[in-house]
Amino acid sequence: MKGLILSGGRGTRLRPLTYTRAKQLVPVANKPVLFYGVEAIVAAGIREIGVVVGDTREEIQAALGDGARFGAKITYIEQDAPRGLAHAVLISEGFLRGSPFVMYLGDNLIADGISSLVDEYRRIGCNSQILLAKVPNPEQFGVAELDGDRVFRLTEKPKNPRSDLALVGVYMFDDTIWEAVKAIRPSARDELEITDAIQWLIDHGKTVHPHLVSGWWKDTGKIEDMLEANRIILDTFSPNGLAAVDSGCRVEGKVVVEEGAKLVRSIVRGPAIIGAGSEIRDAFVGPYTAIGPDCLIDRCEIENSIILRGSQVVSIPGRIADSLIGTNVRIHPGAERPRVHRFLIGDNSEIGIV
Ligand code: G1P
Repeated sequence: MKGLILSGGRGTRLRPLTYTRAKQLVPVANKPVLFYGVEAIVAAGIREIGVVVGDTREEIQAALGDGARFGAKITYIEQDAPRGLAHAVLISEGFLRGSPFVMYLGDNLIADGISSLVDEYRRIGCNSQILLAKVPNPEQFGVAELDGDRVFRLTEKPKNPRSDLALVGVYMFDDTIWEAVKAIRPSARDELEITDAIQWLIDHGKTVHPHLVSGWWKDTGKIEDMLEANRIILDTFSPNGLAAVDSGCRVEGKVVVEEGAKLVRSIVRGPAIIGAGSEIRDAFVGPYTAIGPDCLIDRCEIENSIILRGSQVVSIPGRIADSLIGTNVRIHPGAERPRVHRFLIGDNSEIGIV
């Protein structure tokens, strides 16, 4: 089998972070979301992986390289514009044809990886396997309708969903998909939808096997989803050996302190990760927080947040929570006089003040 990871898209719902980086490279528990997908595919025994890239191709290539560090061989496939998931499959025909494949949306995270799902697909021998998960907001996904354990209809983001079963962003196909992606026409949003291609398979008597996902699954397109994925993954960590923690510190629960990080007179309450080279000084880092590398957290309290590389948060009154802070950001008190709020913030940022 081969793998196909989709890593294009504009990531508009994660602005302003996605002005300067691909949405798939925003870290969850200090690791880019995309890496979890690559690792899951490799763990399923798949080594040949195609990565579909768009505007952010250089950054994605710089992060994944030739795949050797993951034990994979990566081939990049360029999509000229976001023309839909089925279009991404269509342009990957040269790479994929002749081999069944698993397609993985680069911003999706799924508990326990995909090894057992790939095994199930091989065992059953169907044309396609789709994954479904119950969600409270099906109108934001592709939605499946089942008759017993047979899927008979798939609708992309229906206004009035007829079920709460969303299509998870991991799909398995054999060569029957080529006819399907060539037969369908663009949707109302002018994209070739993979949902429509799978409906084509159903309508033409091909076997589409639905697998209901019981563990968690996240499409990390929005900040709340990023924070939730961060919580879930931090919770799976085991505490590691704590280097450079001074005697005035209290470290509780699942806390990972990376190489060269320094804790001084602080409380760190896990689950949490402190990135390499970061310093936590006279501070409280609360549960579900990922501090990236080379950060400074000084005289403040922070919980349920993600802070990216090189940012400094210094002497802020009140507790910072539920926040996603980009790279090289500085948050600190202004001059004594005049007592003003002073902001230098990029487009589409959001700030909540007590
Ligand atoms: C895409 C698919 C949708 C699926 C979702 C899963 O939506 O079109 O059917 O449910 O991924 O993450 P998008 O994230 O492109 O809006």
